[in-house]
Amino acid sequence: MLQKIEATANFLKDKTGFEGKTAIILGSGLGNYVDKIEIQHTLAYKDIPNFPVSTIAGHAGKLIVGKIKGKQVAVMQGRFHYYEGLTMQELTFPVRVFKMMGVENLLVSNAAGGTNYSFEVGDLMMITDHINLFGTNPLIGSNDEELGPRFPNMSEAYDTELCEVARNFARSNNIRLNEGVYVGMSGPSFETNAEYRFLNTIGGDAVGMSTVPEVIVANHMSMRVFGVSVITNNGLEIPEEGNSHNEVLDVASISASSLETIFGAVIDVL
Ligand code: HPA
Repeated sequence: MLQKIEATANFLKDKTGFEGKTAIILGSGLGNYVDKIEIQHTLAYKDIPNFPVSTIAGHAGKLIVGKIKGKQVAVMQGRFHYYEGLTMQELTFPVRVFKMMGVENLLVSNAAGGTNYSFEVGDLMMITDHINLFGTNPLIGSNDEELGPRFPNMSEAYDTELCEVARNFARSNNIRLNEGVYVGMSGPSFETNAEYRFLNTIGGDAVGMSTVPEVIVANHMSMRVFGVSVITNNGLEIPEEGNSHNEVLDVASISASSLETIFGAVIDVL
């Protein structure tokens, strides 16, 4: 795997001259964030050696290198999911490549269902911790000590300093920023009503089908992680027509501008 990671990292560094320290993964419906980027290079995933290809509506499948607030960043517009049939190792491959390109900070966003009674549709939730209910883990298999330790510590999976920066920024700018625990599940079916209630009971505040694998791999490689969920539906309030992917995309794109300002505040200190 190490050789593949190095080959892809070298390809991307040659193509883009990337020298940044931050990578961003944009979730469902949040792809418009790229409008805020002073774009230097755009590469379709299909043109990047060893990259998987994303197949989902709302996920463009492009890697963008550009500047936000004067800082060079690599942005994944569209991510990979376990439910697409990729292995955990395949879908987290880009995070490994970023690290090899010199990236130290990973910013992640996603669309998620609320499992906290106080959350409203359209709210943002800063992720302070997660629960892995995928039933698997991207680090299963032989461990390459050059990438990270066999048993990585996950006690500060989401960087507390960056959370504090975002918390203070949101407070002083009157942006409603909830905080909570993100539960990752495989999907692609949305949760049953009993499952949403169960997730609330075990301490979950939001549930989604991504993020956890990437964050485990980022921690394995000692990257700093900051994450925000957009609450696109509330699992505890049974919707009249059930949850739908289109609803998720619509709400996510409306909340994208607050997310942008929060990410901007974090990028400022990186
Ligand atoms: N469940 C899982 N993933 C999701 C949801 C949900 O309710 N909403 C957006 N992504």
